[in-house]
Amino acid sequence: VARTDGVLLTPGPVPVLPEIRRAQDRVMITHRSPEFSQLYGDLCRRFAAYTGATEAYVLTGSGALGLEALFASLTDRQETALCLPNGEFGDKLAETAGVYTTVRTATLPGGQGWNLARAQPHIDGSGASVLALVYNETGYGVRNDVAAICQYAKAKGMLTIVDGISAWPGTPFNLAQCGVDGFVTGSQKGIGAPPGLAVVALSPTAVTRLAQREAVPSYCLDLRRYRKRFAKDQQTPNTPAISLLWALQKAFDVLDQRGGVAAAVERHAAAAAHVRQRLTALGFDLVAEPGYASHTVTGFVCRDAAEAQGIKATLQREHGITIAGCRGAYADRGLRLAHMGNFEPHDLDACLDAIAALRR
Ligand SMILES: Cc1ncc(COP(=O)(O)O)c(C=O)c1O
Repeated sequence: VARTDGVLLTPGPVPVLPEIRRAQDRVMITHRSPEFSQLYGDLCRRFAAYTGATEAYVLTGSGALGLEALFASLTDRQETALCLPNGEFGDKLAETAGVYTTVRTATLPGGQGWNLARAQPHIDGSGASVLALVYNETGYGVRNDVAAICQYAKAKGMLTIVDGISAWPGTPFNLAQCGVDGFVTGSQKGIGAPPGLAVVALSPTAVTRLAQREAVPSYCLDLRRYRKRFAKDQQTPNTPAISLLWALQKAFDVLDQRGGVAAAVERHAAAAAHVRQRLTALGFDLVAEPGYASHTVTGFVCRDAAEAQGIKATLQREHGITIAGCRGAYADRGLRLAHMGNFEPHDLDACLDAIAALRR
């Protein structure tokens, strides 16, 4: 009999704590009220402080919408963006960039991570003025060395855009220290809120670019409209998902109560190391090459597709645990176990115990 009180160990949406869920259940306010200004101002200021950003905005829509808003608002058709995919989400990032600018790509095979040595020849030979990549390639559980790559690109005068949707807050990040100009994450990942919000952070360079742009080829994704309205009264240009904003505020409260971003990084890194240790002890290969393992999701390789399907189905049917399959090159025999957001270590161990029993 399938359990109905299941445990989500997928890389987003992640389980939402009861207090975060309940935060949405309030009498509605309008987005043209002082209460709203207080709420929205608090969220934007807090995310800017967490990431060391000059400005931050919460947008209604999923993470991909925030990423698209960065490309729409910051890049120009006349310039070239070098994108560095190493999986499905990196491919989608390049596709998004291609709507607004000219794209060049350099690709790594599944499981490999981008570091500066690998990226540098592509950056130097690209003639690009924008560099964009995914921090955490969710499809495989691979963490790219965003800081070294973006610092290098930024020192060359490039604008850097990072999709941190599945990385934050479990992976170390500070805009200035990582040389990043535009950053995005989503509410349903490490933040541990329901899906439906994107949060973007901007560096001084990004803000200057935005302020100097004469036209943005989108109305709803034009971050200049967010800046203008925020400067006026800390409100949004259109009606946002107010209930989700309450949930986001509670999720930030929980993050703070649990020791803030630094503690979140430690908690995620420790869980990732524990999961890797247990899976390798069971004889599974890890998808990520050593040194590039994600803090938030671990991809591992089964003997064959039948084993992968069996594990996933049995976890679901007998334990009420949902995990995800890998994407791309490991779509057939790879599985992904997420340790993202406000996960419970005992749920991870219950999942690993069940996998161990199935391996015998
Ligand atoms: C790295 C990365 N980028 C983009 C996305 C797309 O996010 P959303 O579905 O919130 O638009 C995801 C979702 O899994 C992701 O992991």
